[in-house]
Parts: sequence; structure tokens; C-alpha cells
Amino acid sequence: MIEVKKVSKTYGANPALKEVDCSFLPGRVYGLVGPNGCGKTTLMRCICGFTQPDSGYVTVNGCLIGGRSALRRLRRQKARAVYDRTADFSPATGVIIEEPGFLDHLSGMNNLKLLMAVSGRREEERAARAMRAVGLDPDEKKPVGKYSLGMRQRLGFAQAVMESPDVLLLDEPFNAMDTHSMEEVHGLIAQLRDEGKTILIASHSAEDIRRACDTVLHMEGGVIVRRTEA
Ligand SMILES: Nc1ncnc2c1ncn2[C@@H]1O[C@H](COP(=O)(O)OP(=O)(O)O)[C@@H](O)[C@H]1O
Ligand SMILES: [Mg+2]
Repeated sequence: MIEVKKVSKTYGANPALKEVDCSFLPGRVYGLVGPNGCGKTTLMRCICGFTQPDSGYVTVNGCLIGGRSALRRLRRQKARAVYDRTADFSPATGVIIEEPGFLDHLSGMNNLKLLMAVSGRREEERAARAMRAVGLDPDEKKPVGKYSLGMRQRLGFAQAVMESPDVLLLDEPFNAMDTHSMEEVHGLIAQLRDEGKTILIASHSAEDIRRACDTVLHMEGGVIVRRTEA
């Protein structure tokens, strides 16, 4: 479960998030929808720990995100928070945020192997399984530099899911994806939801993600303005 408590973030004079309060339950898919610049990516970055909020806090499965700097902020602001441990980054979380940084000269499988914390037979099988799940061939020798945009995106998806995270944060995962890949990814998202994962998908297009989502949160100007249930 993800809890976002009164999270604000301002860049210069430009508020990206204004006291956002929301929570996300396991076994559900949430859509985060709104025009470019409304704060979707910033919210996801605060949840995974890539960005620190100015005020407020995030917990993922009881873990306060942001480690010591979050604790310092809460102390400074005399804010009370409910958590049972802390970490710099969200534990057991797979993310697609911005372009995944693959090495162009390696094959897809070798990129995934490189990104895995531990290598060995079992882990290699996980990477291969993740590739097959998104319709990529683990034995494909073509270097990633020669992949189409859709293939790169699918590899990004494989990377996000290969370590079986409890939480998945997918920022604009369908951008420039062809219909066939989209079908496969939709199937995979539904399967992960049924396994009890907490899944967030951000998109500027409600159309692209509506059918994947149980709940859609509509954002405007750094605020969640509306919530619709599927
Ligand atoms: N690193 C950054 N530095 C300065 N401004 C930023 C940064 N990241 C986001 N912003 C600003 O914060 C607002 C929200 O951006 P973002 O979260 O990327 O929105 P979305 O993902 O919905 O398009 C925008 O006005 C954007 O220009
Ligand atoms: Mg964005």
C-alpha cells in the first residue's frame, strides 16, 4: 500500500504538487491522468524516492520514503508521520520513469542481466521470463541500439517487472507503443494486478489507460481534482 500525505513540491515559483493526499491499495490499478505539466511525474518521483517533497511524506508498505532527509524535514516542520521504518528509495518497487538507460551495444537480455543486482541461473531465468512476458525473445542477439522504440519500451517494462516488485510505477508506458505491444502490456498489467501488486499508471491520455484501470485520479495544476471508479 502507498500512502501520500499532504505532499507539496515547488520548483522555483512553480508549484508542481499542492498538498496531495491519496492512497493506493494492493491488487488495484490506478490511473493518474491530466495534461502535461500537471504533476504526474513529480508525484511518481516522490513515491519512489527520486524526488524529495518540500513538505508532506510518502510511505510504501509502512516504509517512510526519503530516509534521513525525510526524517529531518518532518522534524523541521514538526509534522507527525506514521511509519515503521525508513528507506531512501521505495522498496520492492519497479519503475518506468523517463527513458530507460540501456546500453546500446548489448542485447536486450544482456542489458537486463547487467541491471540485476545478483546474477546466476535463477535470476537469468527471471530476466528471460520478463522478456517473454512482454513479447521479446531472450535469445535475440540484436543490440538494443538497433531496437525500435516499441521494443525499447517493452524492454523497459521487462526491467520494471523482472524482480517481481510489490509496487509498479509506470509513467507514460504506452507512449509510441504499437497496438500489438499495447495488448501484451495490458495483459501483463491485469495479471500483475491479480497477483496483488499495487500499480500506478500515469498518462496524458485517459483513452490509452482507461481500460487498464480500476480507479482513475484526474490531476490539474498539482492537485487531484476528481476520482472515477471503473
Ligand atoms: N526538475 C524540474 N525542474 C523544474 N521544474 C520542474 C521539474 N520537474 C517538473 N517541473 C515542473 O513541475 C510541473 C509538473 O511537472 P511534471 O510532474 O513533469 O508533470 P507531468 O508529468 O504531469 O507532465 C511542470 O510545471 C514542470 O515544468
Ligand atoms: Mg510526466
